[in-house]
Amino acid sequence: MDRIRITGGRPLNGTIPISGAKNAALPLMIASLLSDQTLTLSNVPNLADVALLKRILGNHGVDYAVSGKRRGEVVQSGERLALTAAEIVDTTAPYDLVSRMRASFWVIGPLLARMHEARVSLPGGCAIGTRPVDFFLSGLEQLGATIDVDGGYVVASAPGGLAGGRVEFPGISVGATHTIMMAATLAKGETMIENAAREPEVRDLADCLTKMGATIDGAGTDTIRVQGTDRLVAAEHAVLPDRIETGTYAFAVAAAGGEVLLQGARGDLLQKALDVLSQTGAEISQTNDGIRVSRRGTGLAPVDVVTEPFPGFPTDLQAQLMALVTGAGGCSRITETIFENRFMHVSELARLGADIRLDGQTATVHGGTPLKGAQVMATDLRASVSLVIAGLTAEGETWVNRVYHLDRGFEQLEQKLSACGADIERVSG
Ligand code: EPZ
Repeated sequence: MDRIRITGGRPLNGTIPISGAKNAALPLMIASLLSDQTLTLSNVPNLADVALLKRILGNHGVDYAVSGKRRGEVVQSGERLALTAAEIVDTTAPYDLVSRMRASFWVIGPLLARMHEARVSLPGGCAIGTRPVDFFLSGLEQLGATIDVDGGYVVASAPGGLAGGRVEFPGISVGATHTIMMAATLAKGETMIENAAREPEVRDLADCLTKMGATIDGAGTDTIRVQGTDRLVAAEHAVLPDRIETGTYAFAVAAAGGEVLLQGARGDLLQKALDVLSQTGAEISQTNDGIRVSRRGTGLAPVDVVTEPFPGFPTDLQAQLMALVTGAGGCSRITETIFENRFMHVSELARLGADIRLDGQTATVHGGTPLKGAQVMATDLRASVSLVIAGLTAEGETWVNRVYHLDRGFEQLEQKLSACGADIERVSG
């Protein structure tokens, strides 16, 4: 199994190109199920989760083709992926595929809307929490679906097709918002989604669905209105830049010191995280090319942060922030409100010498003790990358095990960091 070796203590200087967002690419790819015509996505990141979703969609009958660089492109940015669901040949999403990636459960919305039936394995829990699907199921029922749970599968049907309705989510869910919005595009009449997630990826999906012929208002606010239509058509859409990758490298630069241009990054997608980063003492400026982050010589200040749905501080940057403030002089508090079990990195950061106390959903980080390299591993993607950030600042060698978590969500991580001067390499076997 591959591992990553990092020798800490080197500043980061240079340019890091930001990839297309994993969490936008996945629902966009799933949207291809809604039409019998081709959806062409550009700036698709080359990630394990994207590859797995290609397989999952392929099982439903989606053909996909990847094309190369286009005239005028200096560097090919991401993959150009053409997805064609001319015929849906299977409306079952089996356990062995869905259990590997929770987002694949979202196929239930498009399958039900287009085929009037879907049989999708329950995704189960995962390392960061139990993650139920009750909002999805009650939302689809509001659109006229009949739902049964049988043998670990959600069996949904709407023989006469879905009908528009009013869906008010009891809590904010990105995936449930994506799923109901996609389903509503092919429902008869108007759907009103209340307490919708406002994440930029929801807006990106709505923009793409609009290009496919859907009528959607309010994406990016907490109320989304969708007017159903009979058929969606071919479209082209570029995946928006990854705000979590942006934040991760911004925190890495602040942790290690130096100055890096995060090329193609958009500050409006992660303003709250950048505000927190400024509070730690890093300098941030938005340029025409992206976001420039630097920290030279100054120490880091502690912060008090609570994770929240967008536009609050994202849970997907919580672990990386924790790694950063282990180097701050003083006591930081980080409270996780989205997932009940997203502190798996705490014990691993402690192996590197961090002083972190957990009390319920709040971690108190007593910063300032220099970290020392060690063997570490993590059980999810963002926790794993927090260990990479810690390793960049730790004295000596840090070995990050279970690298496959990183491959799910970070494209060319070692290459991007080593191009900026980090001493980092992947060791096979
Ligand atoms: C998306 O997951 C992201 N995944 C997650 O990123 C991200 O952490 C999360 O949103 C929150 O921002 C993708 O976009 C692929 P939720 P999602 O439904 O949609 C509860 C990463 O590292 N809930 O918004 O699955 C749920 O348990 C990943 O890239 C219900 O109770 O998250 C959680 O506590 C990890 N019932 C909260 O809502 C439901 O039916 C928010 O989860 C649905 C959700």
